Amino acid sequence: MSAQALAISKVAELDGELVGHVAILPVAVSDGAEGWFGLGPISVLPQFQGQDIGTALIKSAMADIEAQGAAGCVVLGDSGYYGRFGFSVVEGLTYPGVPAEYFQAKPFDGRFPQGDVVYHQAFLSQDRRL
Ligand SMILES: CC(C)(COP(=O)(O)OP(=O)(O)OC[C@H]1O[C@@H](n2cnc3c(N)ncnc32)[C@H](O)[C@@H]1OP(=O)(O)O)[C@@H](O)C(=O)NCCC(=O)NCCS
Repeated sequence: MSAQALAISKVAELDGELVGHVAILPVAVSDGAEGWFGLGPISVLPQFQGQDIGTALIKSAMADIEAQGAAGCVVLGDSGYYGRFGFSVVEGLTYPGVPAEYFQAKPFDGRFPQGDVVYHQAFLSQDRRL
């Protein structure tokens, strides 16, 4: 990524073939909370999905940012999937423009920030760039 914005970028390899990728980028929170990141994008090749590769990528990437001293991580996606990693919808922590039930957070120190989250420009689709 040319924006030099990735905090974490990891791939999964099986027998020398690249089968998955996960990235984590910093996010800003309107209350000024520091050390927050956003998980994603994450992808696993269709023929390798359902084999815990996504789970391994997420757990590894989350462990990396926690070890680096991150305060927590947000994710935009299905709570049925991300809930298993400790993400949950947080009252008062929002990502404007998406249904609230899809925006979740996981703190590493038990403390949730409050306010609106802004992703790094490199993460945003063209129509959401500043
Ligand atoms: C989401 C994704 C990365 C998961 O990777 P994976 O290796 O298949 O996931 P795992 O094998 O670790 O976990 C499988 C579980 O995830 C669930 N799951 C997979 N994709 C899902 C999705 N899009 N929404 C909800 N649940 C999903 C499966 O139902 C399965 O649930 P179960 O354990 O209860 O049976 C992969 O399906 C993918 O690349 N999807 C297309 C890209 C995408 O949607 N990325 C996320 C948004 S950036």
